[in-house]
Amino acid sequence: MMQPTTLVLSAILIISIHQVLCVASEFLPEDSKLNTIELATKYKHVPVQFEVVTKDGYILALYRLPGRSRIPVLLTHGLGDSSDTWLLRGSTSLAITLADDGYDVWLANVRGNRYSRRHQHLDPDKDPEFWRYSFHEIGYYDLPAIIDTILRTTAAKSLTAISHSQGTTAFYVLGSQRKEYNSKINVLISLAPVAYLHHASPPISYLIELAPVIELVFEDLCIHEVFGDNTTVGNILHRLCPLPVIGYFVCVYGFAFPTSGFDPPELEPRFSQVSSAHFPAGTSSRSIVHFLQVGYRKEFAQYDYGKEANVKYYNSSEPPVYRLDRVTMPVALLVGANDHLSTVPDVELLKEELANVVYFNVNPRPLCNHLDFVWGRHMSDYLYPHIYEVLDSYKHF
Ligand SMILES: *[C@@H]1O[C@H](CO)[C@@H](O)[C@H](O)[C@H]1NC(C)=O
Ligand SMILES: *[C@@H]1O[C@H](CO)[C@@H](O)[C@H](O)[C@H]1NC(C)=O
Repeated sequence: MMQPTTLVLSAILIISIHQVLCVASEFLPEDSKLNTIELATKYKHVPVQFEVVTKDGYILALYRLPGRSRIPVLLTHGLGDSSDTWLLRGSTSLAITLADDGYDVWLANVRGNRYSRRHQHLDPDKDPEFWRYSFHEIGYYDLPAIIDTILRTTAAKSLTAISHSQGTTAFYVLGSQRKEYNSKINVLISLAPVAYLHHASPPISYLIELAPVIELVFEDLCIHEVFGDNTTVGNILHRLCPLPVIGYFVCVYGFAFPTSGFDPPELEPRFSQVSSAHFPAGTSSRSIVHFLQVGYRKEFAQYDYGKEANVKYYNSSEPPVYRLDRVTMPVALLVGANDHLSTVPDVELLKEELANVVYFNVNPRPLCNHLDFVWGRHMSDYLYPHIYEVLDSYKHF
């Protein structure tokens, strides 16, 4: 039996931890607590919110920071991320920089994240069906609905897209599966592009080797939503990671840098209190499994349901490979030399496959990693000149 003193000491310990967590949250930077609308408003661009309904019933939040450019610019976030990501660096973030320069900026939120966790008929809390999607459905359903809304609203004939990570993957799906959308994209600026994961470094490569096991674990434990704000893991991360010192050590040194590449000067402790309060924003377990399959099968292919089920879905025991030669939209590829996820050799492979690569740049900063493309402290020095070089070659104004 527990001694009374042990009991009292444990109680005191638990109460102190609780106090530390509560007090610590009082001292978080203001931007840790602001959502997309509040962040954009704080940095002088009051956004307009649109509700986009996809063909398969998902209700997505789309934000516009209105500007005078003739061609709208759509920013699409990566896996488990949200529109917040483009605003977290405040006045030096990409969304605000573009808006300050007069661009008509649109911020997407794909199905399942904190702003797009809604459906016409399905309840994300009760219907596992809601979570049966990956980058395939994002490219096939979400992007067309978002693009149609923007082109209808602005009366523009095409838009410029800037995407990060999974946001690029979804655009390659779009271009290969829904060919009519290629002509609606002026240019796709791909930041840390992902179509192949042949060269991902550990620990991601270990996860890739375990892909079939991870898939089974998710299935057996009925885990459909992952890293959502109200999931256990999401909740713990959002409380733990913004804590001073310990949060930085565990979440940035323990997780963010090993998976995306080490670049301490660009992700400083004070900023990580902001980014880790916003990221992750939730996704489906299938989204993660599909990426692991891409690495495991060494193929940019549709979701693998297993040999028998594949026949039902695809009339073939293997999932169809995405034809990248059908992606005819102009594509710019920007990659970090130190990106552990979207590696230089994998992006070079992608470059060979795509039909219309108009720009290719390996960032000259040797430490440039996967996250620097959205969160880097000095993006305006080492990244924006490349983005503007591409933007300037198309007549936006
Ligand atoms: C989390 O739960 C709260 C309270 O029930 C709810 O208002 C909020 O929309 C939920 N957020 C997400 C992303 O599930
Ligand atoms: C399914 O595949 C077989 C063999 O590849 C082909 O002969 C058949 O026409 C296909 N069926 C459909 C419905 O596409």
